[in-house]
Amino acid sequence: MTLTIVVAASENNVIGINNNLPWHLPDDLKFFKKITLGKPVIMGRKTFESLGRPLPNRLNIVLSRSQQSLPEGVIQFRNYEAAIAYIQTQNCEELCVIGGGVLFAELINSVDQIFLTRVHTILANGEVFFPTIDQNIWEKVWEEHHPEDDKHAISFSFQRYTKIPTN
Ligand SMILES: NC(=O)c1ccc[n+]([C@@H]2O[C@H](COP(=O)([O-])OP(=O)(O)OC[C@H]3O[C@@H](n4cnc5c(N)ncnc54)[C@H](OP(=O)(O)O)[C@@H]3O)[C@@H](O)[C@H]2O)c1
Repeated sequence: MTLTIVVAASENNVIGINNNLPWHLPDDLKFFKKITLGKPVIMGRKTFESLGRPLPNRLNIVLSRSQQSLPEGVIQFRNYEAAIAYIQTQNCEELCVIGGGVLFAELINSVDQIFLTRVHTILANGEVFFPTIDQNIWEKVWEEHHPEDDKHAISFSFQRYTKIPTN
């Protein structure tokens, strides 16, 4: 099973402020949907609270160490290993890790690829961060720039990283 991180981060790696996304970028939301649709998504409890509802047409898995009251169809696990064991019984080819900062930090070394939307701004008031992508481990294999326009106040670039093969 391929493990994929899907994230949007500022130039200084900010991903969240006030338990929310720091920007509104509709085409990034469309890109996120395109990557994740039909696949299981795994997220931390705070990211689920921030979304406020399950993502449709995706198996929603939430990690929390305490009992959560979650909507129907959302499955909670108390640790990552239990979640993976369950997903492996579901015949899935790919699992998308969709945040937030805690989960990304825990899992970045375990995933196979990263879809990073690099948002071209530096935010001084960031609260939650994506880990630095280690250039010795990851190589950028694809990039597509999206300029500012009337619906996007900040320009951004879709990027895909895969692991540099080790000998
Ligand atoms: N820009 C982006 O792409 C992006 C994507 C997603 C989220 N975000 C932002 O990130 C922020 C939320 O991130 P966050 O770092 O504060 O929180 P988070 O990673 O979403 O959730 C953290 C919580 O998840 C649970 N958890 C994490 N690892 C676990 C494990 N191994 N086993 C069991 N439970 C585990 C714990 O819940 P309990 O405390 O209940 O035990 C922990 O407190 C928000 O601002 C959100 O908008 C941004």
